[in-house]
Amino acid sequence: KCMRIDIISAVPQLLKSPLEESIMKRAQDKGLVQIYFHDLREYGQGNYRQIDDTQYGGGAGMVLMIEPIDQCITQLRSERSYDEIIYMTPDGKTLNQKICNALSLKENIIILCGHYKGVDQRVRDLFITREISIGDYVLSGGELGACVLVDAIVRLVPGVLNDETSALYDSFQDNLLAPPVYTRPEEYKNLKVPEILLSGNFAKIDEWREEMSYKHTQERRPDLLNEN
Ligand code: ADE
Repeated sequence: KCMRIDIISAVPQLLKSPLEESIMKRAQDKGLVQIYFHDLREYGQGNYRQIDDTQYGGGAGMVLMIEPIDQCITQLRSERSYDEIIYMTPDGKTLNQKICNALSLKENIIILCGHYKGVDQRVRDLFITREISIGDYVLSGGELGACVLVDAIVRLVPGVLNDETSALYDSFQDNLLAPPVYTRPEEYKNLKVPEILLSGNFAKIDEWREEMSYKHTQERRPDLLNEN
């Protein structure tokens, strides 16, 4: 089974390198995930392939029109069914690890990137199943948000990470932050690797990591500890 992600954007170039390198590339090379980019412009209207227009009621900024988006989504839906059609927008639900975990289990998803002032409200009313923000700040378009979302989802798909257990110890799994990690050398400028990590006692090491996770979370993100 292979997950398929279709991303619709007015500036698909913005999506390319973040999603075609490193782990995202490996996931696709392994056949675990397919990511397709769709240029809204190809569904634009008239000789100028228009995709946006001024807003009714006046006001600065262009709005993405419904027809090109409808055509693109309708085309995709005629080829397969989709579990989710997600719209990236600063007024969506703030992304968290729980949402990423849930989305990593889906088979086919569409992600629509907003641009300029956003999309005609009727696109949201008609097609969108979920609206996601990547944080309380405004980006110039949904593309960077879509890259963040796709990266966070794809790395959770089974088989994508080398050491399959490694996502289990991520920050935010179980609402805890990750413990500190060390590699060579054992000592650098008087800073030593904690003795326990050199002990070879893996039960004790697990215990230490759990303890550090908890302490670290309590210090930096006590809010997470109340969410369980
Ligand atoms: N588009 C513009 N700002 C955004 C945000 N914070 N999250 C997702 N998409 C956006």
